[in-house]
Amino acid sequence: MARRKKIYEGKAKILYEGPEPGTIVQYFKDDATAFNAEKKAVIEGKGVLNNRLSEFFMTGLQGVGIPTHFIRRLNMREQLCRQVEIIPLEVIVRNYAAGSMAKRLGMEEGRQLPRPIVEFSYKNDALGDPLVPEEYIAAFGWASQQDMDDIVAIALRVNDFMSGVMHGVGIKLIDFKIELGRVWDNDFMRLVVADEISPDSCRLWDIETGQKLDKDVFRQDLGNLTDAYTEVARRLGVLPSNVTHAHKPTLIN
Ligand code: TMP
Ligand code: ASP
Repeated sequence: MARRKKIYEGKAKILYEGPEPGTIVQYFKDDATAFNAEKKAVIEGKGVLNNRLSEFFMTGLQGVGIPTHFIRRLNMREQLCRQVEIIPLEVIVRNYAAGSMAKRLGMEEGRQLPRPIVEFSYKNDALGDPLVPEEYIAAFGWASQQDMDDIVAIALRVNDFMSGVMHGVGIKLIDFKIELGRVWDNDFMRLVVADEISPDSCRLWDIETGQKLDKDVFRQDLGNLTDAYTEVARRLGVLPSNVTHAHKPTLIN
């Protein structure tokens, strides 16, 4: 089959032109990277799981009235999305100290924060996605003050939704990253959740055991990443509960 035109290739996904104007096809690769691609591997099955999991979360967000770019899943590795103009920010929400925050502040991982904290990194691989104050965002015109208010409100709503869904299956949402995009309906601009939401972009700990079920398994060499993501998918009902062979997940329709 003739391939569609590639628009962009990132570390974990490829974007192709969609079948209609204003749409794109998002293809989930099996590639995993960490520490700004210093560490790389191909993890069989990861793309298939993330395609399903991102579909699950995006559909759920739409169900509670949070707009996203997601239109529908096309196949095992691809989903149809609205084309958006990505805001060059990684919007991170933290409920518990972990990762770069724990390191920066010398905090113990897993310490509950006094309230959810929203922070922003400038999306630029060459610079290693540096943390930026809101003042920079306004001054450099990456987003207006109104956009920033909307972004914080959306991020906190996504946090409430994701925390609740994960809590329901015995998982603590430690932190996550989202990206937002602009879409235009005639002259009216809206912000929508874009990119992906998956265990690549969240920290997920089992409530009972503290076991990590996210990309830290790969970053920190804690075991098999596909097993961890399969467990998340199984608990959420994205996979049937009787999957025994984690490396070749059987997906339900
Ligand atoms: P951090 O603690 O490394 O700053 O990461 C915070 C959250 O953001 C964590 O859930 C992982 C996610 N994240 C990404 O999705 N992409 C990235 O490039 C980084 C640095 C973090
Ligand atoms: N920074 C991303 C991560 O660690 C991936 C990468 O930088 O290669 O999740």
